[in-house]
Amino acid sequence: MAKEKFTGVKGMNDMLPQDAAVWQYVQRTCIDVLERYGYQEIRTPILENTRVFTRGVGEVTDIVEKEMYSFVDSMNGDQLTLRPECTSAVVRAVNEHNLLYGTNQRLWYFGPMFRHERPQRGRYRQFHQLGAEALGMEGPDIDAEMIMMLARMWKALGVGPVRLEMNTLGALEERQAHREALIRYFEENQDVLDEDARRRLYTNPLRILDTKNPDMQALVEGAPKLLDFLGEKSRGFLNRLEELVSAAGIEYVINPRLVRGLDYYNHTVFEWITDRLGAQGTICGGGRYDPLVEMLGGRPAPGVGFAMGVERVIELLREVGQAPTSTQSDVYVIHHGGDTQTRALLLAEAMRDRGVRVIVHPGSGSIKSQMKKADASGAEFAVFAAGDELAQGKVAVKCLREHNNIVVPFAEQTLVDVDEAPAAIEAAVAAVRG
Ligand code: HAM
Repeated sequence: MAKEKFTGVKGMNDMLPQDAAVWQYVQRTCIDVLERYGYQEIRTPILENTRVFTRGVGEVTDIVEKEMYSFVDSMNGDQLTLRPECTSAVVRAVNEHNLLYGTNQRLWYFGPMFRHERPQRGRYRQFHQLGAEALGMEGPDIDAEMIMMLARMWKALGVGPVRLEMNTLGALEERQAHREALIRYFEENQDVLDEDARRRLYTNPLRILDTKNPDMQALVEGAPKLLDFLGEKSRGFLNRLEELVSAAGIEYVINPRLVRGLDYYNHTVFEWITDRLGAQGTICGGGRYDPLVEMLGGRPAPGVGFAMGVERVIELLREVGQAPTSTQSDVYVIHHGGDTQTRALLLAEAMRDRGVRVIVHPGSGSIKSQMKKADASGAEFAVFAAGDELAQGKVAVKCLREHNNIVVPFAEQTLVDVDEAPAAIEAAVAAVRG
């Protein structure tokens, strides 16, 4: 019988051990920054009742119209959806557990999201977001602080220059007035609209502004601008946000065409974009969503948040040469079996007591083959627990790697007393790993 071959689901990736270091680096670096701003972790299930997203994200968005993995739970007939984003889920949880009762919340999350999109570089069907939601605070100070927090994350990660684009979507009434003006304008120019635009004309005319169709660019350029419909309060909100972001020395551009693909936004929207990743260059998007808490059944409370696409951030780190590589161990212990194996295992324990990552060669093998394994493990140092040296209470230590700019301990193979080896190697590892 032919062997059956199994592959993963299209657009859903395995994270392999060689990628672990960069994933953990992004998580650790961002969490460290989030904690400095008082954000706490929240985890919600990957499945939600479909209504959470149709209501939260909006019925006529691309996400809800064509990208959700939804199914009926065969056990009880419930309509469920694999979360395509987490803001609606977080708000659902906050409402359900009364987390805004007499207080506000600064929350972060990390995890997989699911959208049935056409897979390409930077666009996957399962992807990961690291996001934050600040609930119960009106802004624009909190919006600005969030931008500052993101600027700090990019710096800490070392992603290189990323462009901040901001816009305002104003208040609901202003958006409605603009929407009506847009519909009138597009109605007057029906002949220029493509099929997609005609379909959206009365459901989501704002999305027509996002069109990539070159034949519609002139039409879109001339369309009524929301900025012209904003009242004093909305203008003041944007002005203060700009003032604060500028005061923090963060460069930005106001992009009046930035609308975002989710319906819950009002006032602030923003994206961080890189030119180094081709078409999928938006590494982070977010904005204010004051109506959402009430839309999902809670007492009205404002909110603002963002989510970054972790795969895209990692790809960018690789592009700029800042992605740390995974290593399995700091030290690889080579031995000759029998009594030397016993000594090797015990020496490894003593090193691990000091926090050193150690692999002891499993089983037996020639020194040459053990050296090959040591090299492949990424270990900085090989320790030889063998031969006459060991009989005299000593092990040989050798650095396996080249380093520029630092004096490398054990660059030459050196004999060390077994009792002193753990401390000496701990210090050597600290010296080369920094
Ligand atoms: P979003 O713009 O849909 O916003 O997604 C945020 C980020 O997730 C994008 O900028 C992108 O980096 C990444 N992303 C989205 N789709 C994919 C995909 N198919 N493959 C890889 N990466 C992807 C939201 O999801 C909002 N919940 C953000 C937010 C939080 N707004 C307020 N709070």
